[in-house]
Amino acid sequence: AGFNSIEAIAVASPGELVAAAEVGEATASKIIAGAREVADVGGFETGDRILERRRLVGKINTGSKNLNELLGGGMETQSIMELYGEFGSGKTQVAHQMAVNVQLPSEMGGLHGSVIIIDTENTFRPERIAQMVKGLPPSPDGQERDPADFLKNISVARAFNSNHQILLAESAMEMAEKAKDSDYPVRLIIVDSVTAHFRAEYVGRGTLANRQQKLNKHLHDLMRFGDLNNALILVTNQVMAKPDTFFGDPTKPVGGHVLGHTATFRLYLRKSKGEKRIARLVDSPNLPDGEAVFTVTTEGVKD
Ligand code: GTP
Ligand code: MG
Repeated sequence: AGFNSIEAIAVASPGELVAAAEVGEATASKIIAGAREVADVGGFETGDRILERRRLVGKINTGSKNLNELLGGGMETQSIMELYGEFGSGKTQVAHQMAVNVQLPSEMGGLHGSVIIIDTENTFRPERIAQMVKGLPPSPDGQERDPADFLKNISVARAFNSNHQILLAESAMEMAEKAKDSDYPVRLIIVDSVTAHFRAEYVGRGTLANRQQKLNKHLHDLMRFGDLNNALILVTNQVMAKPDTFFGDPTKPVGGHVLGHTATFRLYLRKSKGEKRIARLVDSPNLPDGEAVFTVTTEGVKD
């Protein structure tokens, strides 16, 4: 039913287990309590323990020094990074670049990891991955790189609607569990776009609560994925181009408070001249807000 490890059960809510396993609420609570004892997750932790776990956090090179600097070294595992911005602002391009870079060795700012992509807009392009691999700086051992080797470590699934998208996130957990002890454990999951289906399917005021509830569950599944696999969760999001419905900022990210509160980092991307893009860091827990300029070239994300 999508729970592939004791840890996954330990961090589930009774409601989730009730729905998945057709057991009563009391039984579900007992199962969860049992799993927690064995898995030793949850409860209070002292700051030094948290610091210890934070030491495992990996940072993934974005390809742009400016962007890395803005992000305190790169995109962090165990966190949700939301890229939002208008069409053509570079969200999908940055996602492709991260799918390449996470595979690199640590000397090059990668995590020697593999990638799972949930593609809701049919915008994954293996050809772009190949171009970006060709555009990488030379490898330290002087070896030629084969784009096919990179494509092998990227698993892509199309999500046809929001329910399918939620299911795919659950089966991603299974895949990651299997890859855990392999050469390339999953260190990155991309959902491009995380909100499009929800936005298209739940129209009208009356459906909003339902939509937010589902989106909330989905995001928490993803967060759990990130924690259990020490992976980065990279999601993209559109902006609403409806200035009449909002005062102030005419470009508000979709997803409302649910996404706003769950995302660890929010990066607002804007188009500038030609290949130039501007990234603004919004709402980071430990970094100052600020901006960075990067470019989207045929060879990928650069300064
Ligand atoms: P939506 O998904 O439509 O909301 O937009 P997005 O933010 O995902 O846009 P995306 O990342 O797909 O950016 C598309 C833009 O990237 C194009 O308009 C080009 O400016 C740029 N781009 C894409 N491929 C190439 C390429 O091969 N070379 C160069 N130089 N630029 C490219
Ligand atoms: Mg896109």
